[in-house]
Amino acid sequence: MLSPHEDAFQLPPDVHYLNCAYMSPLPRAVEEAGIRGIRRKRVPSGIRPEDFFQESDEVRSAFARLVGVSDPARIAILPSVSYGVAVAAGNVGPVRGRNLVVVRDQFPGNVYAWLALEHREGARVRFVDPPAPRTGTPGRGEGWSRRVVEAIDDRTAAVSLAPFHWTDGTRFDLEAIGERTREVGALLVVDGTQSVGAAPFPMDRVRPDALICASYKWLLGPYSVALGYFGERFDGGIPLEEGWITRAGSDDFRGLVDYRAEYAPGALRYDVGERSNFILLPMLLEGLRLVHEWGPKEVRAHCGRLTAELAGELKAEGFGVEEEGWRAAHILGVDVPDDIDREELREALEARSVQVSLRGRALRISPHLYNDRADVHALLDGVCSVRG
Ligand SMILES: Cc1ncc(COP(=O)(O)O)c(C=O)c1O
Repeated sequence: MLSPHEDAFQLPPDVHYLNCAYMSPLPRAVEEAGIRGIRRKRVPSGIRPEDFFQESDEVRSAFARLVGVSDPARIAILPSVSYGVAVAAGNVGPVRGRNLVVVRDQFPGNVYAWLALEHREGARVRFVDPPAPRTGTPGRGEGWSRRVVEAIDDRTAAVSLAPFHWTDGTRFDLEAIGERTREVGALLVVDGTQSVGAAPFPMDRVRPDALICASYKWLLGPYSVALGYFGERFDGGIPLEEGWITRAGSDDFRGLVDYRAEYAPGALRYDVGERSNFILLPMLLEGLRLVHEWGPKEVRAHCGRLTAELAGELKAEGFGVEEEGWRAAHILGVDVPDDIDREELREALEARSVQVSLRGRALRISPHLYNDRADVHALLDGVCSVRG
């Protein structure tokens, strides 16, 4: 019998999908919300002017509650993480002669906007290397966070990273990094794509200036929507586009040509054009509803049980595994030993319908509530088959 969580999804029973860090399967309820959204435009008069605002505000509220933000107007609706990071990079202030701190092999959507400041405005991007190249080297996780803290100095304009490295799940000590960032007056931009929804986000302890999340992974939403928290330091900033709906008073459709200089309050100025997407927003709202219902703590606990078993077994097979306190519960990226042929491993897993990712040197395993020990065992069986 399927568990209620498995039943909420529609994965084929013979597939061992251990790849939520790539993309979550679409929950049944989210798919249905999307289909309802498509059908709405059959008769456009059913889409009322207030719908352009209410649904967006419901999404802002659900996400704000998830990340511990009291004012939903601090949440902007974005099309991607790259867009949100570009908003942050565009409002970091003068950067000539200053540095921007990121970590080595960070997801490119949170790198190119900073590199653009290097090319165009004379900033320097500091890529912080881990103390050892291979995951599983003792002290690597802890040492990497320490190096990030040490890379921040009084010439730092912004620090931008994620709570967990997207390739191998290494945890960064965002509290210590946040504290140092505030000490030097720099901006802290956090990419929560691979953490929010899968683990509680300690907003009050990290205190980022911006927190940006794509919705199609751990928020169980559709592709092409992301959400971003922008704190007070972004008030008065310049958005990437000059939209009409982000202006004060835009809910009065009769007065739209009374052009207004003021934006709507908070972070709404950073909303993407046509943000009131009548298909994607109801889907995202449904995804967020499920995330709230199941709870990031429960996702973390369930994934932690599965990855703990995997970590132990894979370590015994010679894979490099990050120390327990320094790795995510929901993303286990293990370093493949040199005596295993990666192509052979990929084929062995594929033959067993085990779906994971190879990212950099890491074999990345990212379960969710729909996974169970049968998935873990199928993966281990594939690994043992190439071990001989
Ligand atoms: C850490 C991280 N950030 C962001 C993204 C997605 O970025 P974007 O929304 O710009 O495509 C991904 C996708 O894999 C990711 O792993």
